[in-house]
Amino acid sequence: MRIAISTGGGDAPGLNAVIRAAVLSAINRGWDVLGIKRGYAGLMGEDEVIPLTKDSVRGIAHLGGTILRTTNRGNPFHYPIRRPDGSLEEIDRSDELIENAQKLGIDAIITIGGDGSLAIAQQLCAKGVRIVAVPKTIDNDVSGTITTFGFDTAVNTALEAIDRLHTTAESHDRVIVMEVMGREAGFIALHSGLAGTADVILIPEIPYDIERVCDKIRARDRAGRFFSIVVVAEGAYPRGGEVSIMGDSLPGQAKRVGGVAESIARQIHEITSKETRSLVLGHLQRGGMPTSYDRLLATRFGGAAVRAIAEERWGQMVALQSPNIVTIPIEEALREPKRVDASHDIVQTARATGISFGD
Ligand code: F6P
Repeated sequence: MRIAISTGGGDAPGLNAVIRAAVLSAINRGWDVLGIKRGYAGLMGEDEVIPLTKDSVRGIAHLGGTILRTTNRGNPFHYPIRRPDGSLEEIDRSDELIENAQKLGIDAIITIGGDGSLAIAQQLCAKGVRIVAVPKTIDNDVSGTITTFGFDTAVNTALEAIDRLHTTAESHDRVIVMEVMGREAGFIALHSGLAGTADVILIPEIPYDIERVCDKIRARDRAGRFFSIVVVAEGAYPRGGEVSIMGDSLPGQAKRVGGVAESIARQIHEITSKETRSLVLGHLQRGGMPTSYDRLLATRFGGAAVRAIAEERWGQMVALQSPNIVTIPIEEALREPKRVDASHDIVQTARATGISFGD
């Protein structure tokens, strides 16, 4: 048996722990393992395919990033190429990818990725490629699994930032607006905001009204609390308004969401006259060591992916359905993206403890 592993989309702390667990589990069964570099680029002549041995995965479980590297613009079904006149065209390179995989004697592929990689995996499965998927994203927006690895680390990074912001905001009687990642999902903002006892949490699932945000800040002032912390998900948007998009993205890449914190901070200043500051936590949330939770989950996913291959569960994704790791059809995970349920107990408790969602 010869398997190959690929990591695609934005990186997330825990990727290396998945790779390590999968490589060791496979080698200990007597299988060969290859690593496809940079998503599927290694199978399209744009990068390499390397052997993965016990030595290649020594001492990597605690490291952020991915030893295989990754890309969020290498969809083989919509591969962007530039025509001689400079314009862009998207071509389907999936046949070439499959042919190269066959030439290398690859019997099955473990693909580790978020919604974009899962959609590619499903299309490759439909063309007969034997794939098992592992869900990965700091955004936690994949359905069918209670959580994805990378999310807990991102939440902890955001939490540490909120803790640090509290003291400086209080010293200066300021409102500080901190933007966290998540695209269309508000999980990072909600979890870090509640754990960090933010005063306002703004998420895409609950469009906000800036006047309600300012009501909360004024109420705190009246109670002698002259500072406030606002945690905003990058995809949050005002009622009746639009998600804030940052500049251009590269060919083949999704739109870059972000910039909402700065505009919220400006509006809060205009409405309340309070001094405000904003920051974008950005890619700090994607880097660094995975937490123990993420390392364990990633390791369990890696081991489970190899078991799924041994059981020929093609087209399945490993998933956490506590207390067990199960497999579900990739199709099921893709049916509906996971979003914060506005009536979830975390939202209820946040409201009950005085946090405003600006609604
Ligand atoms: O999906 C993960 C994520 O970190 C999102 O939260 C964020 O919007 C996006 O990726 C950023 O992507 P990039 O690394 O291309 O800036």
